[in-house]
Amino acid sequence: MNVKEFFFPAKTRWLTWLPAVITFFFLTLFLLGLWMAADPAVAVEEAGFNTGRPHHIVLSWTEDPLTTQTISWGRSAGNGRDRVQYLPAADFAGSFAGALEVMGDRTELHDGYYRFEGIVEGLNPDTSYVYRVGSEGAWSEPADFTTATRESEFSFLYMGDIQEGYGQWGEMLESVMADNPDLRFILLGGDLVDQGNSMEEWQQFFAAGQQVFRKLPLMPAVGNHDDTEFFRQFFLLPRNGPEGYQDTIYSFDYGNCHLTVLNSNCMGIPGIGDYDKIAGWLQEDLQRSQQLWKVLVFHHPPYPVVQDWRAEVLQKHWVPIFEENGVDIVFVGHQHVYMRTRPLGGGQVQPEGEGIVYVMGNAGTKHYGPGPGYEYMATQLARVENYQIIDINGGILTMTAKDGQGNVIDSFGLVKETVGDSPSARWLMGLMRFLPNLFRGTIQLSPNGIN
Ligand SMILES: [Fe+2]
Repeated sequence: MNVKEFFFPAKTRWLTWLPAVITFFFLTLFLLGLWMAADPAVAVEEAGFNTGRPHHIVLSWTEDPLTTQTISWGRSAGNGRDRVQYLPAADFAGSFAGALEVMGDRTELHDGYYRFEGIVEGLNPDTSYVYRVGSEGAWSEPADFTTATRESEFSFLYMGDIQEGYGQWGEMLESVMADNPDLRFILLGGDLVDQGNSMEEWQQFFAAGQQVFRKLPLMPAVGNHDDTEFFRQFFLLPRNGPEGYQDTIYSFDYGNCHLTVLNSNCMGIPGIGDYDKIAGWLQEDLQRSQQLWKVLVFHHPPYPVVQDWRAEVLQKHWVPIFEENGVDIVFVGHQHVYMRTRPLGGGQVQPEGEGIVYVMGNAGTKHYGPGPGYEYMATQLARVENYQIIDINGGILTMTAKDGQGNVIDSFGLVKETVGDSPSARWLMGLMRFLPNLFRGTIQLSPNGIN
């Protein structure tokens, strides 16, 4: 009998593998720990949270995007002297000497965690500024913002639900900005986080987006998961909505677009709650606008991938308001599938150039399967993170939807009659109709053959 047979008789020979199994188990645990520590979504400490420095800087607009910029930031130390320093990018040579200043307003959000708000006013349209926030000895890195243009040629980003996978989503957001340096602002369609009352989730969300949020204004809609006090406290938005809903319903103009953001959690039926107040405000908001394009953003889809009661309510009691008031395109989310409708009016598919197109986005890693095919769908694509780039060029709106790797998954365009019936306009219109076919090979069609 050799030594091995003495210690491990044939019946217990499997024990010879035990040390290797134990080593493998602990090695796996160790590597898992390393991976979690490296996850940018988890590493909020590195993002500045609890370090005493300004962090999680967010640009948005509470006033006119042409001449103002609203900036908010977090600070765990209770320094009441935080401010914004800014100057035209053309005058910036690495120093803030001679920069203008705006004092920040401080609010304690949560157990010694403060948010500051600074509104920079009197800016020139379509002009870039360099800024930093904080106070002596604790300034943020310089970043820049650009005021809105009066021109009607610009691009913006739409993203649907995020809700989980913040690190992966943040990487996608950064690559979107790198690939599209001309983007002017971001619209989010709600459900930014999963647990809206969890400060930890909000910190992960802001940590993941921090490289982009300090450069591009963020204008979100509220979803069903994030309809909380934290949403209202974190996002500084135009307070021009109906009374009692000014934290989550608002509108603003950019270039030749009027953008209205709604809170679909409270879009009910006539005679109940505040339907009349909210519907009346929406009607007035849309009627008053003379902008060429009218864009709506809210969370729940009136034309869904899978039917639900809320879609019925929205179709019956809200879509008529959209249609009567010239809305062109509606961005929604909620069902975790990418889907675009054909142009719709009165519940029926309309000819190209008429009706409203509804686009459902899903930017996060939470996915549901495709729904049954409905006549109103132009395309649907399940189980893929996606984002939408909207390019406005006067009377031509093009939307390109891409997946997380930057592959085009859908594209379409709208052309206003104001571009005329010139040969170039007709050529562009033809191109718009052709584009979805061009990318059809890259689109995984639903089992029902919806295109
Ligand atoms: Fe949702």
